[in-house]
Amino acid sequence: MNYSSLLIDIADGAAVVTINRPAALNALNAVILEELTAAFAELKGNNAVACVILTGSGAKAFVAGADIAAMQPLDAVAAGQFARLGHAVLNDIEKFPKPVIAAVNGFALGGGCELAMACDIRIAAENARFGQPEVNLGVIPGFGGTLRLSRLVGKGRAKELIFTGDMIDAQEAYRIGLANKVVAAEDLLAAARSMAAKIASKGPVAVRFAKESVDNGLEMDLDRAGRFEADLFGLCFATADQKEGMQAFLDKRPAKFTGR
Ligand code: CAA
Repeated sequence: MNYSSLLIDIADGAAVVTINRPAALNALNAVILEELTAAFAELKGNNAVACVILTGSGAKAFVAGADIAAMQPLDAVAAGQFARLGHAVLNDIEKFPKPVIAAVNGFALGGGCELAMACDIRIAAENARFGQPEVNLGVIPGFGGTLRLSRLVGKGRAKELIFTGDMIDAQEAYRIGLANKVVAAEDLLAAARSMAAKIASKGPVAVRFAKESVDNGLEMDLDRAGRFEADLFGLCFATADQKEGMQAFLDKRPAKFTGR
């Protein structure tokens, strides 16, 4: 499929999805949101893709937020619809059955920070800046920021960032657990590709179950979460990859996973 605002490059088991609207710092409008839905739906069924890397075009921004010019004239009903569209897209990314890495190459503000948080892992370039500046515009985060930021960095830190609208740099994002690691800007895509390649070399069913267990487990009480994890662990033993992975260990050789 052709996209007007996304670039997609598939190599070595990873799809790099680049939001390509650099003149507006990759601000999210309805077109980009709908294209992201379509792109992730397409990549879901592509067996050549084990992992997705999401990034922004240009050296300055990952995504500087939802499109303020498009939002300014909206009434309450239309704004609610726009927020629900954002939630649906980010939920699709969060529930995507393969790992999604955000390669944060600059500003990740508002909807951009929310998009990065819907990904499984965030690798930040040294020039990355994170924030939820919506209160500066007289609104609150609308694509899940109040929910995901508090889950990622804790309630107190999330409230401070959301109430003040302050931007934090990559090192501070790393310190509070918002970024998994910080790399030089010129190494960002290589670092994301290298992590994606490592993940792609593992058993894909096991990686998918691990993602499901972490994400669903956090929303359940420990007792139910424990049973959910044990059931998924059991299901792994219905795969050829479990037999191969354990046999390879016993044979002292690298495993060859097939995803079956
Ligand atoms: N929406 C629309 N356009 C945006 C934008 C956004 N979120 N962010 C930047 N742009 C546009 C600017 O209007 C500007 O366009 P023009 O060249 O046509 O004037 C262009 O991108 C470059 O931006 P700046 O000139 O402002 O660049 P800068 O380096 O001086 O500042 C910045 C960079 C600090 C990121 C600044 O652009 C900024 O503060 N952007 C807005 C950040 C923001 O408030 N994001 C939250 C949006 S609300 C939201 O996301 C709600 C939600 O939760 C869903």
